[in-house]
Amino acid sequence: MKAQVLNRFGDPDVFELTDVDSPAAGPGEVLVRVAVAAVNPLDAKIRSGAMSSVFPTPTPAILGSEIAGVVEATGADVTEPAVGERVVGFAASGGYAELVVTTPDRLAVVPSDLSLTRAATIPTAAETAQRALALIGVQPGETVVVNAAAGSVGSAAVQLLVSAGARVIGTASADNHDYVRALGATPVRYGDHLLDDLASVAPHGVHAALDAGGRGFVDQILGLVEPGRIVTIVDFAAGAKGVNVAAGNPFAIDAHTIAPVLDLAAAGDFATEIAGVVPLADIAEAHRLSERGHLRGKLLVRVADIPGANA
Ligand SMILES: NC(=O)c1ccc[n+]([C@@H]2O[C@H](COP(=O)([O-])OP(=O)(O)OC[C@H]3O[C@@H](n4cnc5c(N)ncnc54)[C@H](OP(=O)(O)O)[C@@H]3O)[C@@H](O)[C@H]2O)c1
Repeated sequence: MKAQVLNRFGDPDVFELTDVDSPAAGPGEVLVRVAVAAVNPLDAKIRSGAMSSVFPTPTPAILGSEIAGVVEATGADVTEPAVGERVVGFAASGGYAELVVTTPDRLAVVPSDLSLTRAATIPTAAETAQRALALIGVQPGETVVVNAAAGSVGSAAVQLLVSAGARVIGTASADNHDYVRALGATPVRYGDHLLDDLASVAPHGVHAALDAGGRGFVDQILGLVEPGRIVTIVDFAAGAKGVNVAAGNPFAIDAHTIAPVLDLAAAGDFATEIAGVVPLADIAEAHRLSERGHLRGKLLVRVADIPGANA
């Protein structure tokens, strides 16, 4: 099979499109033919070598933890999903490849009305947003600030909060304010303008905050929100201030919580913008786009066209 292989850490050009041995599904495993993979900021951090102490990655390695595709084969003891089913989820064996091996708990079946491309925008973003929001217990009618609301996790968090009845304020650069508004949030600027903008759009204060952007946001919002109602997915030092930290491991993630979000998306009630769909051959360009840090929605990689799979 073809795969983008990382033989050493470094800049985005270190990937090599290579023919490698296809993996096989062992007992309890599922082999998935990949149509679409997602690019997450963590992929670039691993590629550069910056995460080697947190996620040791022996090379040669295939990166990419998030895929959508069709079940090609199942190992002994696997009854669901079945061969031929369209699935989306997490794959430790590396999603920048034509075939991946994973386990049934890391996969969700894609509703028939939803394309694999749309489905691929959902797993990491929805799972992370759900896991983070569970730590701050938002009630209907509360006002919540989402930092980095136009990114993939922020887009999911805004939509989940709006559907739960919260009033949402989302930080973004000016180019993304219309998008944040379309998601259902009131857009504000991040950085030096944040507190003035919040005073203007929420003069009675805010109840809770989700930080997906870091860069000093927690310290700013601590003046308005008690630490126990703040959660960050990026600022791991903030735990010392009493703030909730939602650290995750994309290689050990259970997909069972994403099925309801896939259903919302199939019904047209959840839609994250697709920041781009880059061919597998151009993975270096995808990493450069991701590392610029201003994606609107989710960046995807087209791995292969699978006949009849509603890619
Ligand atoms: N802990 C976990 O479990 C977990 C899980 C998933 C992701 N993460 C981490 O969460 C972060 C966000 O992930 P993602 O997938 O949503 O990233 P993404 O899709 O690449 O989005 C990043 C967003 O950051 C915004 N941004 C840029 N500069 C900013 C600033 N100074 N202040 C606030 N926002 C700023 C950008 O918005 P504008 O274009 O509007 O500037 C962009 O939309 C990444 O660091 C990722 O590694 C953690």
